[in-house]
Amino acid sequence: MGKTSAALGHGPCVLLILLLLSLPMCARMPEKPGYTGEQVERGRKIYRKSCAQCHGTTLANGLFGAPLKGEYFREQWRGRPVAALHAVAQYTMPPEAPASLSTAEIADVLALILAENGLAPGENELPAEIEPLGRMILIW
Ligand code: HEC
Repeated sequence: MGKTSAALGHGPCVLLILLLLSLPMCARMPEKPGYTGEQVERGRKIYRKSCAQCHGTTLANGLFGAPLKGEYFREQWRGRPVAALHAVAQYTMPPEAPASLSTAEIADVLALILAENGLAPGENELPAEIEPLGRMILIW
């Protein structure tokens, strides 16, 4: 399979194919990430207080922080588990006080980020625990 893909010679397509092929191996039972509207509103309050000064009011117009919305951001995280995004946000953000937010607060902010990137809400809130987040793959 790898040989066929390499023979195509189209870098991005090959990467996408390899990614799709490897998904079932990385996560036994990949799930679609979900969140609720209520959670997004909680996340918005936390975001305004702790993240907006760097990442911007729209999540993509920050002077200091990387964009958390848009094609570039989605490209960075496509195919990866939500757990990875949660870990980065939890343990590196905000830079002056890493891990100062609870895992649930970070999950709420992630709900906002998923919503702003066009992911549809689900019936349940986005969990705050690494285990279920590890099964949820960012397909966008
Ligand atoms: C003092 C400014 C500042 C604050 C406040 C801040 N960030 Fe960041 N953030 C950054 C910078 C700068 C980067 C880029 C770091 C890098 O690439 O090494 C970043 C990167 C990130 C990333 C990784 C983006 C990517 O695609 O790799 C995430 C996720 C993130 N921040 C989430 C948050 C969240 C959630 C909050 C609020 C709890 C927050 N940040 C608060 C400055 C900030």
